[in-house]
Amino acid sequence: MRGIAEKVYIVTGAAQGIGKATASRLHEEGAQVVLADRNVSGVHRLEEEINGSGGRAFAVVLDVAIRESWSAAVGKIIEHFGRIDGLVNNAGLTRDRSLLKMTDEDWHSVVDVNLRGAWLGCQSVVPHMTTSGGSIVNLSSESRWGAFGQSNYSAAKSGLVGLTRTVALECARHGIRSNAVAPGATSTPMVEAVPEEVRNGWKSSIPMKREADPSEIASVIVFLLSDDASYVTGQILGVNGGSAI
Ligand code: NAI
Repeated sequence: MRGIAEKVYIVTGAAQGIGKATASRLHEEGAQVVLADRNVSGVHRLEEEINGSGGRAFAVVLDVAIRESWSAAVGKIIEHFGRIDGLVNNAGLTRDRSLLKMTDEDWHSVVDVNLRGAWLGCQSVVPHMTTSGGSIVNLSSESRWGAFGQSNYSAAKSGLVGLTRTVALECARHGIRSNAVAPGATSTPMVEAVPEEVRNGWKSSIPMKREADPSEIASVIVFLLSDDASYVTGQILGVNGGSAI
């Protein structure tokens, strides 16, 4: 894809799942990729794998929900690469429970990581993109429309719509684009924890009758980061096998 090679992209939650697939795809496209996760061994393993095949990956330990963790990580990235061209706010988690059973802890942990983490990410990288532009991609979800047992996650993922669109409006004048990808069910460790019968129920309701492979989400994320999407901003792109038609 155009304009990816040699650029520096941060992928949060890069240790596994969609984040790992995105980092790997960026490496294949010739990018320099920052693997940011609170799973230290996971990002170091992927760093070794990518650099062992001739890539330029750099692992940083990051807890997206902590402002000081962002400052420390961005400091290291600037020291190492000297620039930041893009950010994928991918780190996420679920703590599913019905409304009346959900605790403050369930609410805060999910909203802090999925929504506030992305907001902190945007605040942290935008100052480094104002001269030569950049691209931000947030991971929303089909759950943004509302999902049983996910009042916390659904609120966070629909909150990302407002964040994505607002950053697009405020930062267009700096050449910074902001978009979101909203995947449907994707075969990652997050979803592999869900009981088989529940996953079979989802699959039967998806027009394409299957979950996405993480690489099918990664390719859309990398498209939005690339110059092939140079006039696309403020958009929420569903990648869901036809679920929301
Ligand atoms: P996953 O659970 O397989 O991987 C998430 C990664 O985020 C892990 O490496 C984890 O260590 C990291 N992470 C969690 N909290 C963190 C924190 N505070 N700081 C730094 N890293 C942290 O998840 P998956 O499935 O790859 O999901 C990636 C993104 O896509 C998430 O935002 C998720 O909500 C979203 N998504 C996933 C879907 C799916 O079906 N798998 C569907 C729709 C959206």
